[in-house]
Amino acid sequence: MKIELLLILPLLTIFFNCSNTTTNNYEIQSPNSSNRIVIKLNDAVPEYSVYHNDVPVITPSKLGIALRSQPDFSQGLEITDAVQSSFDETWEQPWGVQRLIRNHYNELRLTLVTTAEPRRKLVVVFRAFDDGVAFRYEFPEQGHLNDFVIMDELTEFNLPADNESWWIGAYQWNRYEYLYEHTPVSSVGKSHTPFTMQTADGLCLSIHEAALTDYASMTLENRGGNSLKCDLVPWAEGDKVRAAAPHVSPWRTIQIADKPGDLITSYLILNLNEPSRITDTNWIQPGKYVGIWWGMHIGTFTWGSGDKHGANNANVKRYIDFAAEHGFPGVLVEGWNTGWDGDWVANGNIFSFTEAHPDFDLPELSRYAAEKGVRIIGHHETSKGIGNYETQVEAAFQLYQDYGINTVKTGYVGHGQNIQRYENGEPTDHLEWHHGQYMVNHYRKVTELAARYGIMLDVHEPIKDTGIRRTWPNLMTREGARGQEFNAWSEDGGNSPDHTTTIPFTRCLAGPFDFTPGIFDLHFTEAGRPANRVSTTLAKQLALYLTIYSPLHMAADLPENYTGQPAFEFIKMVPTDWERTEVLNAAISQYLIIARRDRHSADWFLGSITDESPRNFQVALTFLEPGRTYRATIYADGPHADWDTNPYAVTIFEQEVTSATVLSLKLAPGGGQAIRFTPTD
Ligand code: NOJ
Repeated sequence: MKIELLLILPLLTIFFNCSNTTTNNYEIQSPNSSNRIVIKLNDAVPEYSVYHNDVPVITPSKLGIALRSQPDFSQGLEITDAVQSSFDETWEQPWGVQRLIRNHYNELRLTLVTTAEPRRKLVVVFRAFDDGVAFRYEFPEQGHLNDFVIMDELTEFNLPADNESWWIGAYQWNRYEYLYEHTPVSSVGKSHTPFTMQTADGLCLSIHEAALTDYASMTLENRGGNSLKCDLVPWAEGDKVRAAAPHVSPWRTIQIADKPGDLITSYLILNLNEPSRITDTNWIQPGKYVGIWWGMHIGTFTWGSGDKHGANNANVKRYIDFAAEHGFPGVLVEGWNTGWDGDWVANGNIFSFTEAHPDFDLPELSRYAAEKGVRIIGHHETSKGIGNYETQVEAAFQLYQDYGINTVKTGYVGHGQNIQRYENGEPTDHLEWHHGQYMVNHYRKVTELAARYGIMLDVHEPIKDTGIRRTWPNLMTREGARGQEFNAWSEDGGNSPDHTTTIPFTRCLAGPFDFTPGIFDLHFTEAGRPANRVSTTLAKQLALYLTIYSPLHMAADLPENYTGQPAFEFIKMVPTDWERTEVLNAAISQYLIIARRDRHSADWFLGSITDESPRNFQVALTFLEPGRTYRATIYADGPHADWDTNPYAVTIFEQEVTSATVLSLKLAPGGGQAIRFTPTD
């Protein structure tokens, strides 16, 4: 069912404690009263604070907007109106980690007006949820505010203590693709969001944004001590946001969780996005894929012409055969088009998105794929040649539609700031960031166009997810972090064992991640990469299908590396669309045990991973349906398994369990465990 279900919409007033404009103190509580936002004017400057169970989480922090060349909303403000409301609905996702999501909050809309003439209006909307708080700025249509340029958003996030934090630096050449830093807040540089923290008392917090639309993305600036401030990614000329009233900012979000796992099952970001703009979502189908891809990363294939060109007809047919034999609906083919020869990272302006490489026969290969019940997944690497791409993208989607291709992986490789801006189809001298308003708008344009052509997207080098998949559910998954590919070629040898135990609590709070798990050949000595490797056990590669969510998950290794591997059965059967998700145990950056129920059967799956430390857990299977017996098929680290010295040892065994069973999990250093539970009755 692809409808939004409106269940109840009661108007509650007991949660509000609004004063009149004399005291200018306002307060709003979440439905269960655990979270509270207090707003007041301090010397005509608005400030907010946040409390969780009466403990301060955010101490008084400024709000406001600085505009270019006109009086702005940074001071001299009064509150002229306060409107309260309450909302409670349960809506259904077309795909995801949880089918039904409750959106339950209390809202307070404060109208701020400048005391100086012309009296201009800014509305700040606050929402208090049981899993966090959010607020956004609205610029209503009004006589004295037409076109405007935001030069700074003054939003602060002042913290009562120097919390532990996990973050990646903003304004770096490799965009979001860094290992996470783990420092006290006071040592944070400029940081991307989601920005995750844990207090000394164990409370978990994540600052991010929701519904990033026609605005610059938010990074966080450390202002010394425990004070963070919104820092909007600028246009080349230094403007932050170019807009015209009416306009809205994205939601500033603070997820608040008593334990780490509750951050993962918080749907606050999705709830703050608009319902789907695509009415018939039946064509949007999660699934798994294989592809001509890993070979390029370990150097056995090339994207460009030559003896090793991966996307040749015979090789593509081999992958299609493999996908058909093992039940994978998609085959990604990179390097199918012209423009890859030479330095493709610098070739952004010569890619063709409609002309195939001479040894790639699109009509024949798409016919062959259809005959086998498989679809090719298309690929558009732009190397950040935005103008070149925008002039071709519609024809390119049309071509794919003509040949039955309904999923496209896009890519924007290149330095984080060096995107050449196009205006009216012409290049300019201005260089934009991947994460400023110009690119936010480009990514959205492509998403909306793709929807018109019935195309699902997997965006690499993307703008971070802010829940837009609720509004545009054809935007399935993204990269936006260090993925598996770093293990193939990164100069530091690859991702450390704690990278995969960190991202569920950081990057993945934003949304699905096309990490591309499932590498079975963990060393690449034969491929000539002795200094690189995958720093996990083989069982942990299986568990990643559960601990990282993506509606499109890849079986990333070469087909020959799956041959004769009993563990491959798990990758074949693990779903990518879930009825429900429960976190059973978690510690940020150390370990995660997560259970998910298949959306299309009564099966449950469990994934468990650890960092470099071996760990033993006792897990109560209370999530299983009481009174039923299940066959657990367990893929565990084998005897003496160790990511470093003995990564391939896997033990596969079966056991009968019920909801009363307490299962012992034994994870090797850098290890993991993956389990399927199937009812036997
Ligand atoms: C970087 C992407 O992350 C990777 O998946 C892709 O293969 C290359 N760009 C080429 O497009």
